[in-house]
Amino acid sequence: PIVPVLLCGGSGTRLWPLSRKSYPKQFAALAGGRTLFQAAAERVSGAGFARPVVVTGSDFRFIVTEQLHEAGIEPGAVLIEPAGRNTAPAILAGALHAAARDPEALMLVCPSDHVVPDTAAFRAAVEAGTAAAEAGALVTFGIRPTRPETGYGWLELAALPPEGCLAPLPLTRFVEKPDRATATRMFEEGRYFWNAGIFLFRVRSMIEAFETHAPGLVDPVRRAVEGAAPDLGFLRLAPGPWSEAEEISIDYAVMERATNRAVVPFAGHWSDLGDWEAVRREIGPDGAGNALAGAATAIRCEGSLLRSEAPGLEVVGIGLRDIVAVAMPDAVLVAHRDCAQEVKEAVAAMKGKG
Ligand code: GDD
Ligand code: MG
Repeated sequence: PIVPVLLCGGSGTRLWPLSRKSYPKQFAALAGGRTLFQAAAERVSGAGFARPVVVTGSDFRFIVTEQLHEAGIEPGAVLIEPAGRNTAPAILAGALHAAARDPEALMLVCPSDHVVPDTAAFRAAVEAGTAAAEAGALVTFGIRPTRPETGYGWLELAALPPEGCLAPLPLTRFVEKPDRATATRMFEEGRYFWNAGIFLFRVRSMIEAFETHAPGLVDPVRRAVEGAAPDLGFLRLAPGPWSEAEEISIDYAVMERATNRAVVPFAGHWSDLGDWEAVRREIGPDGAGNALAGAATAIRCEGSLLRSEAPGLEVVGIGLRDIVAVAMPDAVLVAHRDCAQEVKEAVAAMKGKG
């Protein structure tokens, strides 16, 4: 069976004030009853999958176990990071943990901030990547781009495959978070997919890729995993070695540099709820492009997101264009839609208040 590794240690600050340091977006019910984390765990539960390994931060450990319990899912292990070091150390820790059981095992890295409604299509794509992963490839999943997005990784192919193709294709280049001009050029060239951020590989292949392309991470993360302390059912990574691991994402540390890469096209609906503009798109704007949630009213508004998360608190917009307004009991965000990415910096500037 494939070992799913659920990543849920990100702080999701671009969705402030809904997403908080102590309660990031992946644990909040953004659309529908389930949280994004629960939905991610459910996607990889059942036939063909081992019990999931969760990698998360200390602050989230009880949210994780509570939400898994509520979804009826028993974790294989919950690894606790003493501090968030981004996705490369988290994935390497998951791989080393799995390797101690079986270095030949297949591992599926699952971010927990995605909306992927079609589980059958998702599993079919994973299935389609299995043989390539077994043969040693680091398999990514490609989404057909619909805009020159700078917040994603871009996967370059010799040519885009026909619609409906599920065969793994060789990846010629991986470009993480390009600038606007580069994203626009890649979008126009039409030979690129977005990187879905989901990775399938043999545990041994990924560890070898780290040894080749990010050797400095291997020793500290290995010592953190080997020195991990069991604590109330959690496995707490050793803080000393962990603090020596560079803070870097898997995309920069390994995927941009590796050579044995393949991409499986994913045609189902996929969305990273990374910022409020993504949420507006995702919750289905009305004819005027407005998306309303909670006690919200829009009068002569266009392209705006109005959302009340506070009981008894009404949000009313009149004559707005491209505005995001989100009210929580203790904080209100009002921003221009084009500034959705800057919420992260605003939160950083408020230091600790988020
Ligand atoms: N355990 C743990 N520790 N998880 C983390 C950490 C960490 O330090 N940092 C981030 N994560 C989790 C997040 O909670 C999320 O589920 C996932 O890892 C991906 O992190 P993001 O921070 O959301 O990455 P991104 O969206 O900017 O970029 C990645 O995903 C894009 C698609 O959604 C990249 O892989 C891009 O190439 C890709 O296009
Ligand atoms: Mg993301």
